[in-house]
Amino acid sequence: MSEHVRGVRRPRIAIAGATGRVGAALIANLAVDAVDIVALTRNPKSTRLPAGVDTAEVNFDLASTLSSALQGANRLFLAHGTSETQVANEIALIGAAVGAGVSHIAKLSALGPPTRLHPFDWHMKIEAHLATCDVGYTILRPSCFVDVLARAQAPVAQGTWGGTAGDGRVNLIDTRDIADIARLALIDDQFLNAQRAYHLTGPGTVSMPEIAIELSRLIGRPVTYQPRTEQEHRAVLIASGVSEMVADLLLGLDRIFRDGVLAETTNTVIDLTGKKPRSVFEWLTDHLSSFETPNR
Ligand SMILES: NC(=O)c1ccc[n+]([C@@H]2O[C@H](COP(=O)([O-])OP(=O)(O)OC[C@H]3O[C@@H](n4cnc5c(N)ncnc54)[C@H](OP(=O)(O)O)[C@@H]3O)[C@@H](O)[C@H]2O)c1
Repeated sequence: MSEHVRGVRRPRIAIAGATGRVGAALIANLAVDAVDIVALTRNPKSTRLPAGVDTAEVNFDLASTLSSALQGANRLFLAHGTSETQVANEIALIGAAVGAGVSHIAKLSALGPPTRLHPFDWHMKIEAHLATCDVGYTILRPSCFVDVLARAQAPVAQGTWGGTAGDGRVNLIDTRDIADIARLALIDDQFLNAQRAYHLTGPGTVSMPEIAIELSRLIGRPVTYQPRTEQEHRAVLIASGVSEMVADLLLGLDRIFRDGVLAETTNTVIDLTGKKPRSVFEWLTDHLSSFETPNR
């Protein structure tokens, strides 16, 4: 049933992943809109929750907490950190949202190939489930977040940056551009009853060696991207303290970059928002100090 049929005037938007990168930027965006927000979180004491926003605690092992967190919500933003429980948790939230009468779900997914690589395969499962539900939805399929370069900050500062991406090209997207589209999907009634997906990218492609050249210019000393074999890079990643799952994901991303799998450029951000998407170089400039000082 549409919100208009039920006479809803001020939408109540539930935000799952509110403490995450896209969720936090989305909440900041929605501050100017005539909507009520409820931030869903596993940890209501999290210091990453924005001040002044209603919160509802969710425990994915207790379905009743999902239903009560979504009571009264009309729309849901659905994001979830990368974890083995992602498929089950997102499907449970979709079920609770549909049960609570939510009219539209904006799901944060990923642009990527059909692959066994997590989390791409997980998103395909969640999208397939969403397609079976009687609810309006917008699937946001962004290319890789530019924040992936945060992993290069300490290595660049220490002069040990490298990987297996070679000079492959990738289109990186700023999470604020994703949040801008998520906001539209949640407040603009033209999205309300539609079921569709959007491929979101930044303004153009870059390679890791090009990023090294730009960082050299910005920092004022030579920065290089050292080519490694997969075996060498896995050893470096594990030694840096990441889990096997994250090492697999990062090696998989490097492979995807090397093969130009995410080198597509779409006009979707500018078409929907009227604004050019933010560039990688803008992000590098904003985060420069962390590339300059070791051990930050
Ligand atoms: N990174 C990329 O390049 C990229 C590209 C395309 C798509 N994506 C997709 O974007 C999504 C992540 O978005 P994001 O970066 O905005 O989120 P994020 O910063 O990774 O975190 C999202 C939130 O999910 C919540 N969460 C609930 N259960 C969780 C669990 N078991 N493990 C971890 N977090 C959990 C956490 O909030 P609470 O602790 O408050 O509950 C967390 O703050 C993923 O689905 C990823 O596949 C990422």
